[in-house]
Amino acid sequence: MKKIPILMDCDPGHDDAIAIILALSSEKLDVLGITSVCGNMTIEKTTKNVRSICEFLGRRDIPIAQGRSGPLLTSVYTAGVAHGKSGLDGPELPDPVAPLQKESAVEFLAKKIKESEENVVLVPTGPLTNIAVLLLCYPELISKIDKIVLMGGSIVGGCSGRGASEFNIMVDAYAADIVFTSGVPIVMMGLDVTNKNTIHFDEKELFREKGRVGKMIAELADFFGRGFEMLGWPGVPIHDACTIAYLIQPELFTLKEMNVEIDLDGKDTFGSTVGDYYNVEGKDANVLVALDSDREGFVKLLLDACDAYGKEVQL
Ligand code: RIB
Ligand code: CA
Repeated sequence: MKKIPILMDCDPGHDDAIAIILALSSEKLDVLGITSVCGNMTIEKTTKNVRSICEFLGRRDIPIAQGRSGPLLTSVYTAGVAHGKSGLDGPELPDPVAPLQKESAVEFLAKKIKESEENVVLVPTGPLTNIAVLLLCYPELISKIDKIVLMGGSIVGGCSGRGASEFNIMVDAYAADIVFTSGVPIVMMGLDVTNKNTIHFDEKELFREKGRVGKMIAELADFFGRGFEMLGWPGVPIHDACTIAYLIQPELFTLKEMNVEIDLDGKDTFGSTVGDYYNVEGKDANVLVALDSDREGFVKLLLDACDAYGKEVQL
């Protein structure tokens, strides 16, 4: 079976880390590389976290390139409250060993897309800074991008503390606008569906019994879940892993095509994704939006992923 070639762009971040674990476990995906972006934490920390996760998984073969130091126009806005000072507080992770790629993230993404015989799927799970610059600097490569499957936005409500906007889109709304108007097909895993795809607090034990990788997922959920438990949520939303789950098992999701635009003018709605759910304005649909999912099937996919890794790390 032909593997889907993907490039991940992320800001680990606990849920980004679980997305990487899921992606590298799957026989269906060929992870051509991972780039870091400034989001949950500074670029230095998110880059180190990508490298440490790959080291933990015994995947020194995965090329990693460092992204831009901050959003295109707005200032750096990190999420230490959710992810801790390191951006990945909680579990014990090894120091990275494999060297970083010498190219910047944007140059690396362009190189891998050029080299690939198949069109590549981009999977950003942080702010869209690197992806926007890639599309601006290498417009000739747009035809070699199959689609962008992103975690970001929401059709109903946000989470960034500003009411209507979601963190990834809000942090670099100008980059998001460039991506959403680029013409590249987009699949949007927004909060409408990622807030549903939680690991329930009583399900964490199922992961702890699944070897070292399952234990890692449980510990990531332990730390990331603190705030959600206090707020009375049923579990920990594993936002970013929804992108990878969609690529592996799309039938887990219910999606609807619609026109989605980024609000760049609103005082309290800046950075929100405005979806024309009923196509009132008659504009072309540019995004396939996930609106529902099979949570149990999602959790089973994560549990099965743990089995793909041996009991011990193979370096
Ligand atoms: O709003 C959730 C998103 O913000 C996730 O990607 C999480 O990692 C944070 O980046
Ligand atoms: Ca993220």
